[in-house]
Amino acid sequence: MQIITSVSEMQHYSDKIRINGNKIAVVPTMGYLHEGHLSLIRLAKQHCDVVITTIFVNPAQFSPEEDFEKYPRDLNRDISMCTSAGCDVVFAPDVAAMYNHNFLTFVSVDNISNKLEGTFRPSHFKGVTTVVAKLFNITKPHVAVFGQKDAQQTAVIKKMVKDLNFDIQIIVAPTVREPDGLALSSRNIYLTNGERKDASVLYKSLKLAEEEINNGENSVEIIKTKMIDLILSKPNFIIDYISFNDADTLEELGTIAGTPVLVSLAARIGKVRLIDNLVIKK
Ligand code: PAF
Repeated sequence: MQIITSVSEMQHYSDKIRINGNKIAVVPTMGYLHEGHLSLIRLAKQHCDVVITTIFVNPAQFSPEEDFEKYPRDLNRDISMCTSAGCDVVFAPDVAAMYNHNFLTFVSVDNISNKLEGTFRPSHFKGVTTVVAKLFNITKPHVAVFGQKDAQQTAVIKKMVKDLNFDIQIIVAPTVREPDGLALSSRNIYLTNGERKDASVLYKSLKLAEEEINNGENSVEIIKTKMIDLILSKPNFIIDYISFNDADTLEELGTIAGTPVLVSLAARIGKVRLIDNLVIKK
């Protein structure tokens, strides 16, 4: 497996792959990989000849009070995990390589970036779409694979790809979970043992919503109240939001008129903010 840190070297490498008629998949990550990321790499490999995993903790998507400095990093561990998952290239630039000292250009997707996570993290998606657009221009993929865990991120990126005519197929891979349902996340390492145990209530609340919808309940208010009661049975939780939305447009739903419905939530326990979601289909 090859490791590339220079933008021009990465572009040159991808040009050669394309000239030889081979297909490239990119898996953008911020590193500190877990089984969820590896599942994206394996899926990418099924679709393309060459898989590039990008590892870059992107300062533009963190607000000053967030954990950019403390975000977990371990490039050597990531490299050996990428190798074992069948990745062909790791692209791991430093901040200076990605953002020159006079960087002035940003990509932002209006409207859907401002809902849900955007309410709590106002400039987050502008940072995500800017870096993903750059990573697309640097790695020149045919296919890009993202995780369903970040449902709003995938909706925003799909919209950017459509609106800006990126000739790239976006594949969304299912969320990988611990046996008790907790979605894998690099930030789970911040949880204390007690918080880790309680955190499985989030997935249980999503499954409760699924059960309610499947039993014919169509009032979002009623389902939300039951989810809130369940989550707050673990008293250390603070809920930022629980939302029912159209899975593509992210339009907020007041009643369940049909499916699929995206049920998403964010909650804080101790110092950790967790997000999760379920697309409910009948
Ligand atoms: O999902 C992530 O890890 C990041 O938001 C991404 C897509 C790699 C952009 O920095």
